[in-house]
Amino acid sequence: MLKWILLALVVMVILAVVGVTFWVQTEAPFRRVTLAEGPAERALILYHTSRDAHFSDDLAAALAQGFEEGGLSVDRWPMTKSTPPRPEGYAVVAVVSNTFFGAPDWPTARYLERAKLTDLDTIAIIAGSGSTDRAERLLRAKLEKTGARLLALRPLWIKRPNTPNSHTKDNREIAMGLARAMATKAADNARAGKPARDDPALRIMEGSEGAAGSRVQ
Ligand SMILES: Cc1cc2nc3c(=O)[nH]c(=O)nc-3n(C[C@H](O)[C@H](O)[C@H](O)COP(=O)(O)O)c2cc1C
Repeated sequence: MLKWILLALVVMVILAVVGVTFWVQTEAPFRRVTLAEGPAERALILYHTSRDAHFSDDLAAALAQGFEEGGLSVDRWPMTKSTPPRPEGYAVVAVVSNTFFGAPDWPTARYLERAKLTDLDTIAIIAGSGSTDRAERLLRAKLEKTGARLLALRPLWIKRPNTPNSHTKDNREIAMGLARAMATKAADNARAGKPARDDPALRIMEGSEGAAGSRVQ
């Protein structure tokens, strides 16, 4: 009897994990949303919509704020089967992916497989609870395959400090501040027509490859 109860429990746990895995990675319907309108130059945020902790939604909102402060109009699209592979008319693009089991979420991965971002200035965030090294490497490789000019890619975490002296309870707020700063800097570069890679501020925001201590605050 105990054997059957244990077996039923194992099956239930497996079904729950499979269910959550699919649910958190289901695509949102494709919808173009304008978050800031005004200047002629535009930024586009491509993201996987939140299912869980609203982290990628918050990061997209922070990026939008940063782009707007940097003097750009801002659009936001979810990454789906219907998302155009080549976004036209954007000075800068931001990609926000979630991490599930050490990899970028499926909608992001599928979209980047067919995206053509050739020579588009792009910043990217890999969001996760705190274990994103492998997902970051995979996301970088996928972005490079799209032809994007990758200015900065960094992880932002909800359960691990994002800066050397920060506290876990402030993670979300700090992550949003960092996303906002990345976007403002990228917008400034785009508006100045500078090759953004020459901007040291963007360079130090790039990639983690490990400890939080190596990045800009
Ligand atoms: C099934 C599952 C697997 C996850 N795997 C990872 C992981 O490998 N590394 C990590 O840092 N976070 C992982 N997370 C945390 C999510 O990346 C984090 O909760 C997500 O960025 C929040 O997304 P949302 O709030 O935008 O829905 C996982 C979460 C779930 C539900």
